[in-house]
Amino acid sequence: MAAAKTTRVSPTAYATGYFWYRHGLSHAALATPQGRRIDGVFRAFAGATRKLSGFSLDALMLARHKGIDARLREAIDRGKVAQVIEIAAGLSPRGWSFTQRYGRRLRYLETDLPAMAATKRALLERAGSLSDRHRVVELDALADHGPDSLEAIAATLDPKLGTAIVTEGLMNYLDPPSARAVWQRIAATLARFPHGVYLSDVYFQERARHPAVLAFGALLSVFVKGRMYIHFDTPADVPRVMKAAGFARARAIKCESIAPAREYAKIRGGDAVRVLEAWT
Ligand SMILES: C[S@@+](CC[C@H](N)C(=O)[O-])C[C@H]1O[C@@H](n2cnc3c(N)ncnc32)[C@H](O)[C@@H]1O
Repeated sequence: MAAAKTTRVSPTAYATGYFWYRHGLSHAALATPQGRRIDGVFRAFAGATRKLSGFSLDALMLARHKGIDARLREAIDRGKVAQVIEIAAGLSPRGWSFTQRYGRRLRYLETDLPAMAATKRALLERAGSLSDRHRVVELDALADHGPDSLEAIAATLDPKLGTAIVTEGLMNYLDPPSARAVWQRIAATLARFPHGVYLSDVYFQERARHPAVLAFGALLSVFVKGRMYIHFDTPADVPRVMKAAGFARARAIKCESIAPAREYAKIRGGDAVRVLEAWT
């Protein structure tokens, strides 16, 4: 089964879920005891990294999260997007915060592998967030067809409404052929809607050679018992690679040019991530 390749990644979602909560971005229901434990380990590591090298992993996480949020809000506010599919949502607060903000103007589908989707559904039920506009469904990003494929999940949405697909903290766990296949599936899916935008965090080889990034990647690799991958050498590669995957235009937006992410992008570490935005 395709999903078996990446289920090992799921525990990291508890840690990021707790991280978003610790930084005041989430609902208490998404802060789990497991998350607190794993976040404690990452927090100690991030503290030591900052002291030794000045590189802030917290700034990197916050820049990426706030950067994606801001670009998604912009697409919704411009009337281009009324439906969102978040792939590998984990325990991220985005579905909760966006449905709070936009109410009936937005339909939000949170998706993840079965165990994490079940956990998220139970926690969001406790938070009182779920409705016909905000659902959690099982989706395997690596599945080409079948009930848990992106194709099948997207078919449940309104084909007349502009749609966004979001991934955060997923693509670097996928090997290059798997990543390309995921982007092709996303582009093909979005092309069926009147407007389609894909948003993700993105990193570059030129910046990823920083010892702090290498060390964090090594820590994550041990934790998930698998390798991490950087898919682009430089930001200039983004349009070419994403066009080859089926998008009409794409760019890697610096977080310092996105107002809500700017304060983090100014900190060393926060400048190592950009927001990938690709339109069909
Ligand atoms: C690092 S977590 C990120 C969670 C969330 N996006 C965030 O930023 O807090 C990675 C997530 O990817 C999910 N995942 C791993 N493999 C997947 C796959 N093949 N399809 C869908 N989700 C997957 C995991 O279950 C986990 O929730």
